[in-house]
Amino acid sequence: EKAGFDHFMLKEIHEQPKAYRETMLGRIAEDGKSVNLSKELEMSDDYVKSINKVHIVACGTAYHAGLVGKSVIESLARIPVETDVASEYRYRSPIITPDTLVIVVSQSGETADTLAAMREAQRNGARVLAITNVVGSSVAREADDVLVTWAGPEIAVASTKAYSSQLIAFYLLGLHLSRVRGTQSSEQIAQVIEALTALPEQVEEILEQSAVLKQVAESMSHHTSLFFIGRGVDYAVAQEGSLKLKEISYIHSEAYAAGELKHGTLALIEDGIPVIALISQEDLYEKTLSNIKEVKARGAHVLAVTNQGFEAEVAKSVDEVFSIPKTLPVLTPALSVVPLQLISYYASLSLGHDVDKPRNLAKSVTVE
Ligand code: M6R
Repeated sequence: EKAGFDHFMLKEIHEQPKAYRETMLGRIAEDGKSVNLSKELEMSDDYVKSINKVHIVACGTAYHAGLVGKSVIESLARIPVETDVASEYRYRSPIITPDTLVIVVSQSGETADTLAAMREAQRNGARVLAITNVVGSSVAREADDVLVTWAGPEIAVASTKAYSSQLIAFYLLGLHLSRVRGTQSSEQIAQVIEALTALPEQVEEILEQSAVLKQVAESMSHHTSLFFIGRGVDYAVAQEGSLKLKEISYIHSEAYAAGELKHGTLALIEDGIPVIALISQEDLYEKTLSNIKEVKARGAHVLAVTNQGFEAEVAKSVDEVFSIPKTLPVLTPALSVVPLQLISYYASLSLGHDVDKPRNLAKSVTVE
């Protein structure tokens, strides 16, 4: 059942190209020029035009997908978005009106806090769209609209292909909303779709470089603490990378917005501490590079995850570079998360932990 892989997590990491293709299947027009979700979403075009804000609500890894989802919807559809952790959302008296679209994200569709948040949103008159991997789950049954991620069953407690398929769902949704609201030209939409459909093969290219990441992970696993830094969507991916590492390797790590380090956290950067720096956003490149230099100057051992084309320049300031294939800035999370998943996997493996069933955690959290 593990199809020749040692663990479900590794199998699921390798299933991502397939999961991306399945999640896109039938949702992109044959000419590759538009995304139309009207067949599966019940919301009318008039409703789409009336949305004045979006709340994304989820837990854990799904919340991290929601952080990327915020950038996607804001940049493509130009609707203001707030992303909240479900266990906080209800208790902050969120301002929900009938023209608020609430998007809940849940692999299992059974997470208690996410379900409670969605019920609260519906009580307040909002429409709820669920992005879930389980057809027929509680979240799918109760939501007004459902966008299924076709990642296939995810067994490992640490979520991998479900997260990255949630990103694909957000890209499709962003393209759908932007077409209906007319916020992007048809050329821009076609350009995003072209880059989107190239992702599965690009993930395959990354998976072929697993051996390098295994080495990186093994040397990191001797440390008791490390940092992930990034700006923009790189920061969102940093948070996911940090959670993944903590969850299965039990190594303490923190994800930091690269520009925030100097407001306190730099005090923790000491000789030899590993820092994984995500630097994939062209417009933030110089800024992130200068943050990398700040940690290097304090003795950090830096692995940069950057895009092809930047690597030669980045290499001058860091210890190691891992490059991901070229894509559009908004799409990089669907690639840059993959090396972070592999680093966590190999770190956990080299420390002898139970990769698929980490201590104290359950696959589906049905208590609040
Ligand atoms: O099933 P859900 O997506 O609602 O689960 C939410 C979280 O419990 C889940 O993503 C958790 O953070 C993962 N184990 C992380 O890998």
